[in-house]
Amino acid sequence: MIPAAAGPKTLPKAELHVHLEGTLQPAFALELAAREGRDVSAFLRDGAYRTGDFTQFLAVYDGAAVLLRREEDFERLAFDYLVSIAGMGALYAELLVSPDHGVASGLSAAAYLRAAARGMARAERRCGIVSRQIVVGVRHFGPEAVERAARIAVDPAFPFVTGFNLAGDERQGRAADFARAFDIAREAGLGLTAHAGELCGPASVRGTLDALKPERLGHGVRAAEDPDLVARLRGEGIVLEVCPGSNLALGICPDLASHPLKALVEAGVKATLASDDPPFFATDLATEYERAESLLPGRGLTFTRTAIEAAFVDEPTRRRLLDAMLARAMALGAPPAAG
Ligand code: ADE
Ligand code: ZN
Repeated sequence: MIPAAAGPKTLPKAELHVHLEGTLQPAFALELAAREGRDVSAFLRDGAYRTGDFTQFLAVYDGAAVLLRREEDFERLAFDYLVSIAGMGALYAELLVSPDHGVASGLSAAAYLRAAARGMARAERRCGIVSRQIVVGVRHFGPEAVERAARIAVDPAFPFVTGFNLAGDERQGRAADFARAFDIAREAGLGLTAHAGELCGPASVRGTLDALKPERLGHGVRAAEDPDLVARLRGEGIVLEVCPGSNLALGICPDLASHPLKALVEAGVKATLASDDPPFFATDLATEYERAESLLPGRGLTFTRTAIEAAFVDEPTRRRLLDAMLARAMALGAPPAAG
């Protein structure tokens, strides 16, 4: 089914990289802060988050995330986000869910994942958008926490979970410290992706590919600093989940014109578009597609096709999503995206 919420003129989209807590809109955060009797003025003023550099961002993110205290908060968060991007033309999304954040909010990991799943199922019933959960281990919580997250991810009690990711502060620890967690996820058949090449450069990307063997990378954009590594990404067909607005907000690159997306795509690296933590970076999925359009005119549908081809879904679902994308593109009069 094609989401009914999006008009036919809306380019079909797909998003592989958005953190569930990172979708918390300031208005909802303020509502929760009032309910919980918390003062959030240190990081939320004039209806916007005050983020700064990555270290400051992480503190703001965690401060906002713990405002979510109840199962219904996570259900609403997932539902609202998916309905909002369906309205922008999204057919599919992968939500990065962090059991550690759920526990910090006072829930069990199971209650947290199930609450988000209820919101996701409801969003699909409401407007047709298909979604899956990618469990993240948080790197700066250490290898044991990441291994614990992997064991939760592989539990068949959570059918929305189809992938595993390493998030958090890339400057901490070595990729190899997390190899055991990735082995657990791989052996269970989960799709694998990891944040790398965001805060750190090519050595971090290489270490991640060697030690964790993911199919995709969260960000990965700093690989562009090393032509041999770019050739490796192309040769191995590694798919990048590129989040230009996040990179701009965190100062990973100074302006859009110098963002590596264009160089990477022109070098033959597979890339998709995503919003990471949209209200924290004053962005959304449609804005990311607009940014990419200004760098690489006419490629929007190819980003969507690449995302669906790299999505952590079963093959019948992938086929259904590709068919929906093509049907929508035909209605738009857009030429079919290159495969
Ligand atoms: N967690 C939430 N947003 C993140 C990002 N941009 N990088 C790493 N971990 C994150
Ligand atoms: Zn991320």
